[in-house]
Amino acid sequence: KDSVSVGLLGVGVVGSGVISLIEKHQAKLAHQLGCNVHVKSALVRNPEKAREVDAGVNGTELTTNSEDVLNDPEIDVVIEVMGGIEEAREAILKAFEAKKHVVTANKDLVALHGAELHESATKNKCDFYYEASVAGGIPILRGITDGFASDHIEQVMGIVNGTTNYIMTKMSNEGVSYEDALKQAQQLGFAEADPAADVEGLDAARKMAILGRLAFSTYIDLDDVEVTGIKDIELTDLQYGDQLGLTMKLIGFAKFDGKEVEVNVQPALISKEHPLADVKNEYNAVYVYGEAVGEAMFYGAGAGSMPTAAAVISDVVTVIKNMHRGVTGSQFVEPRFKKELKSESQ
Ligand code: NDP
Ligand code: HSE
Repeated sequence: KDSVSVGLLGVGVVGSGVISLIEKHQAKLAHQLGCNVHVKSALVRNPEKAREVDAGVNGTELTTNSEDVLNDPEIDVVIEVMGGIEEAREAILKAFEAKKHVVTANKDLVALHGAELHESATKNKCDFYYEASVAGGIPILRGITDGFASDHIEQVMGIVNGTTNYIMTKMSNEGVSYEDALKQAQQLGFAEADPAADVEGLDAARKMAILGRLAFSTYIDLDDVEVTGIKDIELTDLQYGDQLGLTMKLIGFAKFDGKEVEVNVQPALISKEHPLADVKNEYNAVYVYGEAVGEAMFYGAGAGSMPTAAAVISDVVTVIKNMHRGVTGSQFVEPRFKKELKSESQ
């Protein structure tokens, strides 16, 4: 094919970035892939809304009918960046049934329904990738699945929510109030549609569940993740910590000893000397401890339009390469260590 057509579900913070970046790096993509990538149509709720990108000018048709994307025979790859759970789940399942490959940034969905979506992708011989779902622009899922393919990962730990890190950085470094810092994070596009998921730690918990599944090759139920968010943190807590040479961070931790999985997310006071103390604003950092490699740290922008779009498009590149090779693939590797799947609800 001279051109691969892609369909977008959502043209918000991430979707706008995807349209812009595909346009901007078309020549690089064509060089790597031997074909153009064209965003043919995109689902939105309100086509009249002012957007970061003028989708019409970029040759993308906006629609309010998901069938225009999911049932278009010219579209080979569907990118889900609309967020939410039920509608996104149904749309992705329909895409697989229509034999379309799927890329998503939706950690809520992958953490809750990853196994079901993976099963449908496999049944329909479709690709299913979700690099952007954890730590935005950092290629952490590839790092874990490919980079550590021959190693035994013992622990994964780090800062995986940009909004809460932004809030705590602004509070402790600039004395900004919690409410104002949250507002700024929303305006900058880091926060979820419902920011409760960020500040209550659930977003980080979902990302840690995805990281843990891939790192340890086992199922992790969200019910098993212990979560404490940052919404009760006061400016004075951060100031006392500061006087003691400590910085507060929302830390995700996952460990697996071959039998028991331990995953938790909680605010922790860490020494200012620790490398995680220097991870500021929306930046994320993930430490991976491998038996052979030892310690590796992945650091970068964990949220925002362009970093997240770059991760989404990296998955699209993988999908198109798979299409050219006539193979299908997925980030989700069938777990080696199986456990009864509890109902995926939280
Ligand atoms: P936004 O709220 O900015 O954008 C959502 C887009 O989807 C909008 O274009 C909206 O339409 C459209 N949409 C939502 N629901 C529907 C629906 N039911 N029918 C039709 N269109 C719909 O979200 P983000 O771009 O910030 O996030 C998208 C996904 O990416 C989420 O899963 C999020 O968790 C994930 N993510 C976000 C990151 C970030 O930094 N923002 C980073 C990593 C992942 P309209 O424009 O008309 O309102
Ligand atoms: N709301 C998320 C965060 C977006 O702040 O990290 C990136 O997943």
